[in-house]
Amino acid sequence: GAAQPVIVAIDGPSGTGKSSTSKAVAAQLGLSYLDTGAQYRAITWWMVSNGIDIEDPTAIAAVAGKPEIVSGTDPADPTITVDGTDVAGPIRTQEVTSKVSAVSAVPEVRTRITDLQRSLAASAERGIVVEGRDIGTTVLPDADLKIFLTASPEARAARRSGELKGADVHSTREALIKRDEADSSRKTSPLAKADDAVEVDTTELTLAQVIECVVTLVGEKRAAK
Ligand code: DC
Repeated sequence: GAAQPVIVAIDGPSGTGKSSTSKAVAAQLGLSYLDTGAQYRAITWWMVSNGIDIEDPTAIAAVAGKPEIVSGTDPADPTITVDGTDVAGPIRTQEVTSKVSAVSAVPEVRTRITDLQRSLAASAERGIVVEGRDIGTTVLPDADLKIFLTASPEARAARRSGELKGADVHSTREALIKRDEADSSRKTSPLAKADDAVEVDTTELTLAQVIECVVTLVGEKRAAK
């Protein structure tokens, strides 16, 4: 019934509208919201700030348990802090973006962040929308609804460079494809569509259409529960 908490996993590569969609769906349905990419960015920011060699997985693994990462799960105000410092701005820099794939490929980092994600999902009273790369496959394999968002590389690059204000579409496209390849080919918990995920190609859809589609699917799952 409608009172049961509902767990929604939204995965896909960058520039498919995951964050905008997930936040809007959570707000519309009164659910919590978790941006797992922000958590990987936060731990990457900490590694960079502490002079950890990003090329050295052993060095990263040795300190993966050190930073305390706290995510606020209100979709209207999703916060992220590391050891009490607000890092919402610093985690979006090009430096962090270029290093996050290497850090998030380290198994000790993934175990740490996955534990945080599962405990946040378990404590969300009304349910939660969790967005990322491996939520449906690894983090929350029992999610009530799994969505896998896709879009053409051109559409994804155009959306990203729009967000980055003035960024060149061509270099944005190259960087984005490189990051998706790294995220899809890593050994531990790569970006992948779960077998039971609903794939939504957003290339020709407006954000409002994607939101409506996901809200409808959540409604159907709830009715069937
Ligand atoms: O969604 P985003 O672009 O902010 O994610 C940043 C990076 O974090 C992404 O390139 C790969 C990593 N990530 C991950 O490995 N697993 C997730 N569930 C979410 C993000």
